[in-house]
Amino acid sequence: MTDTEHCPVSDLSTDYDIFDPDYVHDPVPAWSEIREACPIAHTDRWGGSWLPTRYDDVQALAKMVPELSSANPGPIVVNIPEEFRRPEREGYNGAAPISADPPEQTWTRKALLPHFTPKAIAPQHEYTQKLCHELIDGFIDNGGCDAAVDYAQQIPPRVIAHKLGVDGSRVDEFIEWVRGVLELGLTDPATRLKYGDTIHDFFKAEVQDRRADPRDDLITALCNTEVDGQLLPDPVIVGMCNLQLVAGIDTTWSSIGSALWHFAGHEDDRRRMAGADDDLWGTAVEELLRAYSPVTMARTVMEPVEISGASLQPGDKVLMNFPGANHDPEVFEDPDTVILDRQRNRHIAFGAGIHRCAGSNLARMEMEVALRTWFERIPEFTLSAPDEVTWAGGQVRGPRILPVTFGV
Ligand code: HEM
Repeated sequence: MTDTEHCPVSDLSTDYDIFDPDYVHDPVPAWSEIREACPIAHTDRWGGSWLPTRYDDVQALAKMVPELSSANPGPIVVNIPEEFRRPEREGYNGAAPISADPPEQTWTRKALLPHFTPKAIAPQHEYTQKLCHELIDGFIDNGGCDAAVDYAQQIPPRVIAHKLGVDGSRVDEFIEWVRGVLELGLTDPATRLKYGDTIHDFFKAEVQDRRADPRDDLITALCNTEVDGQLLPDPVIVGMCNLQLVAGIDTTWSSIGSALWHFAGHEDDRRRMAGADDDLWGTAVEELLRAYSPVTMARTVMEPVEISGASLQPGDKVLMNFPGANHDPEVFEDPDTVILDRQRNRHIAFGAGIHRCAGSNLARMEMEVALRTWFERIPEFTLSAPDEVTWAGGQVRGPRILPVTFGV
């Protein structure tokens, strides 16, 4: 950590800070200012990084392989000191395919994709509907709840546990581990290492268990997957499971939470959704994904790149600002307004290029089921304590405390 890291930001183009409380609370004004001024900003904070803000630039950067690498870029902004790095474990890529370049990215992605088609996630659809009703049963008579902690946060960990075939009663631990890696761990390498190890050891034991006792679940299916006539090696499967826990939890709960935050504070939109048909739900989910895109990734520059006035050099870090790209007025009319029936909406909340989200069908299903079930049971709700709402920022942005009251 350098001593500039907690100073006020002087100039967003040369000194942005994605952990600045104002940025975490609402990054949209900062993206607009940078887009007009540069449009690719640089900061020395948190180990240094570049922040593109235009849709076309983010798309182009996402497609620059091999000039930009996803292999071990580390957390989005913090460079991990040597003492907090594990010596490489044989054959273990912490989170392939997201943390791999081709060819490893290609075959690990190919092994995952068949498990996330609409047909393959059908059992999770039924499970999610039942789960959402059970969660609401638990708090509806209280007249209010924390919509982030009691609802949004509870859904994705259980759904991904159900799919992987791991013990759903341990979700509180899964949440703690994932927050340890993706939220607290972004600026605290010791915490990140500790929880990274916990997840690794957990899945190592699960994979060994499936080898001895195969079941009808995703871990067993990965254990039986062959690439070029060879079974996937166990350390690769452990990394893939790690990714699914991490990618499958924080992201989707953030999206569900941001959507509920939006509706709690926008009466017209809330009333509209209370009577919405399938078409409106379809466009609304896409619009909420666009307007409140949760995920920012990182790449490491491998070869010099000139783009929109920025000279990226080998070793530099680039933040893949998918959320900012989705607010580019060149591509989206009135980009900072949520338009629930927006028709032209080619958002890149799920990324672009070879790493585009492999779990997008599952994520969309969870979002729609979670929101529709909520509206069916609780059509009227408002923020009960707006000042108490907190947001997580960094790699995944979304509300973490969200008190709401039911009724008007
Ligand atoms: C609203 C929820 C979600 C959002 C916004 C989201 C977003 C993203 C983004 C932006 C990427 C691209 C990363 C990059 O370019 O480096 C990605 C990759 C990925 N996501 Fe998601 N994700 C979500 C939910 C899920 C879920 C539920 C899963 C299920 C396990 C999942 C699994 C993956 C995987 C496996 C990759 C890596 C693909 C590759 O590298 O080839 N995601 N996601």
